[in-house]
Amino acid sequence: MAKTKSGGSTASERGAGKRILDVHGPNLNLLGSREPDTYGDVTLHDINVALEKLAAELAVEVESYQSNSEGEIVSKIQSVRDGFGGLLLNAAAYTHTSVALRDAVLAVAVPVVEVHLSNIYKREDFRHRSLLSDIVAGQIVGFGASSYLLGLRALAELV
Ligand code: DQA
Repeated sequence: MAKTKSGGSTASERGAGKRILDVHGPNLNLLGSREPDTYGDVTLHDINVALEKLAAELAVEVESYQSNSEGEIVSKIQSVRDGFGGLLLNAAAYTHTSVALRDAVLAVAVPVVEVHLSNIYKREDFRHRSLLSDIVAGQIVGFGASSYLLGLRALAELV
């Protein structure tokens, strides 16, 4: 078995390539009741269950996480370094504001797919700028909950 310089097993030997972290940012815990005209009536739980089902079909593993706190999301993104092969990220409002999240994404050397339920480019001007779009593998916007499923499919190809 190949070893890293420190003698441990490599990330790919630990199956990291098949593990995908799914991170939901602020206010996404309210999906289902929050602005249904914009975000639909699907709950975060529904999305996470659908992701798990699709992950099984794609022979990858997905772990979902949500936080309203910028610092907690930064720490979670950093944890990608501990055995995940890809990151599915809806940073929600922090997409448009957070240099800290951008730096965290830059610090993880795995493919990242940015997703949004709504088409941010059809909305207010301040949502047209993503601080992540130029550093991620790709962006999927505007398909409601399906944005996540399309994002997972893309990541499964990349990891
Ligand atoms: C969002 C779009 C963001 O502009 C907004 O702040 C969100 C959700 C989306 O999924 O469409 O909270 O990321």
